[in-house]
Amino acid sequence: MNVDGKAFRTVWWEADHVRMIDQPLLPHQFRIVDMATHRDTAKAIRIMTVRGAGAIGATGALGLAQAAVEADDRDFHSFVGAAANLLRGTRPTAQNLFAGVDAVLRAIEAEGSHVARARAAAIAAANAFADDDAASCRRIGELGAPLLAERPRMSTHCNAGWLAFVDWGSALSPVYAARRAGIDASVLVDETRPRQQGSQLTAWELGQEGVPHRIIADNATGHFMARGEVDICIVGSDRIAANGDVANKIGTYTSALAAAANGIPFYVAAPTTTIAMHTVSGADIPIEERDEDEVLYVWGWSDEGRFVRVRTAPVTSRARNPAFDVTPAALIAGIITERGIVAASPAGIASVAR
Ligand code: MRU
Repeated sequence: MNVDGKAFRTVWWEADHVRMIDQPLLPHQFRIVDMATHRDTAKAIRIMTVRGAGAIGATGALGLAQAAVEADDRDFHSFVGAAANLLRGTRPTAQNLFAGVDAVLRAIEAEGSHVARARAAAIAAANAFADDDAASCRRIGELGAPLLAERPRMSTHCNAGWLAFVDWGSALSPVYAARRAGIDASVLVDETRPRQQGSQLTAWELGQEGVPHRIIADNATGHFMARGEVDICIVGSDRIAANGDVANKIGTYTSALAAAANGIPFYVAAPTTTIAMHTVSGADIPIEERDEDEVLYVWGWSDEGRFVRVRTAPVTSRARNPAFDVTPAALIAGIITERGIVAASPAGIASVAR
């Protein structure tokens, strides 16, 4: 997608380094950062320099390819195995991370003890995984755009745009495709406390593409739905269980409840790398609980042009900070994947799972 008219991906491989857009600086600064080792790359996932299920999946894959380049011939397999564990341990919820690491591990294992071939296979598999993410998201856009022809005023939560993937995005890809097809789609953007992925990332990328949008406080969603100002909801997902339950950014469940109460179809858009067939239901999805400071403080860009952290809560108060919640399958109208739009049901999920 374009930044000031120039095409970018969220994360990519360059001369054995992993390069990525520094997402916490957006929308105030656009900067590319360079991860020289797989440990740097793992840290970038953990501290959310890169975030979003598809983007961290590709970053995990590229990070493991980096480890294969760094590893000595003598302890190649144990080094790569430890790197895979490090990368898998960075964030617990997004299935795409595990899919990315596993895809590269499989390519390495297929070469047996031939280390030079295993290195080359790791780099090829990681780049193929990233390319596949971009292609799947593009297809999700083509399949989802007709929904917006009927229902152009969309609501979304968090960032499931191109910044959350390698390119195009999941929930926002139908918007980009629809607008290219002349459909007048617009987006109501939940700001998405506490990390503000909606107001900082979704709003920024919609602005770059010229998509009409308004940021709303998370707690205004039900109000706009009840007033008939929302035709459809499309959100992304970090993990889809075999029964059709979906984990996504905290607050998604509340939006789905409000949509159901107002008769608004609630869709989830995700590539099939987000499906975890070994996760039986939403109750089995590990929910990341992050530092309470993310709730107690806000970060922002001061009028003097500096990032500043401000405490908004009493100094004596503690907080809870789950990063995701689970929306039960019964609240979901359909799941838009690159293999088709399917029911959020065991049969629907099984019909598109890899
Ligand atoms: O914590 P994040 O920013 O990595 O969360 C991921 C998300 O952006 C979402 O939940 C998103 O809607 C899923 S689609 C990648």
